[in-house]
Amino acid sequence: MVEDIRIDPWSSSQSTDYGRIVDQFGLSEVDPDLLPSPSMLHRRRIVFAHRDLDVVIAAQQAGRPFGVLTGLMPSGAMHLGHKMVIDQVRWFQQLGADVTIAVADLEAHATRGLSLEQCRKTALEEYVANYAAMGLDPERTSVYFQSTRPVVQRLGFSLARKVNLSEMESIYGFDGESNLAHVQAPLVQVGDIVHPMLDEHGGLRPIVVPVGIDQDPHLRLTRGLVAKSNWFNLNPIKHGGLSVSLSVQDINAEALGITPEGGIDSVRRASVFKTLTSGLSELGFADLLQNPKHGTLGIPSATAADASDIRNTLLGIERRLGGLGLLQPASTYHRFAVGLTGDKMSSSDPKSTIFLSDDIDSIEKKIRSAFSGGRATVEEHRRLGGDPDVDVSYQYMMYFFEPDDDALKECNEAYRSGSMLAGEMKQLCVEKASAWMREHQELKQQNAHLVDSFLADDSR
Ligand code: TRP
Repeated sequence: MVEDIRIDPWSSSQSTDYGRIVDQFGLSEVDPDLLPSPSMLHRRRIVFAHRDLDVVIAAQQAGRPFGVLTGLMPSGAMHLGHKMVIDQVRWFQQLGADVTIAVADLEAHATRGLSLEQCRKTALEEYVANYAAMGLDPERTSVYFQSTRPVVQRLGFSLARKVNLSEMESIYGFDGESNLAHVQAPLVQVGDIVHPMLDEHGGLRPIVVPVGIDQDPHLRLTRGLVAKSNWFNLNPIKHGGLSVSLSVQDINAEALGITPEGGIDSVRRASVFKTLTSGLSELGFADLLQNPKHGTLGIPSATAADASDIRNTLLGIERRLGGLGLLQPASTYHRFAVGLTGDKMSSSDPKSTIFLSDDIDSIEKKIRSAFSGGRATVEEHRRLGGDPDVDVSYQYMMYFFEPDDDALKECNEAYRSGSMLAGEMKQLCVEKASAWMREHQELKQQNAHLVDSFLADDSR
């Protein structure tokens, strides 16, 4: 038997068996044809998998609000890997999303040993300055620090009541030696992910989290906790239709009509059901099978296509009764570009990647000494062709520097056929990368005055 893959968000080595990851964790594949104006990252299947992206796209198509939330650890200079996240944020923003970005200073403090002061400095000088350069709209982008937004920590704390140490161990591989700040960091991330749905942060709407696949454990944790926190469950019925059931918990027992002795407060229960039936009839469902005593309510005429509207109604009712009313977050996952050295990209290994602050000379040096998929001799290369799949220069054009699909395809074919040499591929990549970087650094200067306008009021 093959062993299960474990995804560790903090490890320097990572499985790249994306097919198995999709299967094992029940992800859906991204189909660029189903997306409005897919970006090059979608067209090239670099953003390859998602959870519930269809819910987000449906909101976008219907002109309803939706939001993006992501976060980056300010643990060193911003590099190409981070740029990819912001590229996706900008894509969602252009589709109409509001944007919230966490500066994961508590996480960097817990897992990288950086002080919060250092984190703040790096975040402002490196990260937010680059967000401005990359064309995020300051009017519709709000950057905050985990350490200065109490509601994020409070939500993480509350939702943590529904997860125990063994579950944290099995998701993350923590053990008796794990330090507790590290154990807490994912719970803060749970708070990051759900807090934009609170009324004071934009209200109930779909939130999508674009991240690298290494972050999926956090999404699994968040989605699980959100599901457990919901006051009403919605499930398919065997012979058609959907069924609502009350999820009685210590925190909502009274509101849902349970007496302190554990019996049923039929007056309270009846009023909950009245609220439910009137909410559902507003959606057009008249034929409802109510069983207040069991806490279930069948909607025989509802189909899977109605689930999303019904869920929204239920979450609205939950909020009115005093619950959080949280929707499970959606997510998209991107593959990782190889590091220049052939290993993983990492801010702690400057040779492994290009930083957004690198000068043109060092970019050229880095690319020229990067791993290539060329053959040992020119003669052999001409005869057998090169391998663009492992050629770092080609890969970097695909991930970062060549927006034109036709031009990229031409390179791919010329390289495979042997008519294009490894040195020529590097030369082209150097030119593209330098042009991109010159423009980026110019924009960074031009937009430097905007940095402050990206910061949320609690983060200035
Ligand atoms: N854990 C992420 C990282 O390693 C940063 C992060 C913090 C984040 N909060 C988030 C990412 C919320 C997505 C959503 O860089």
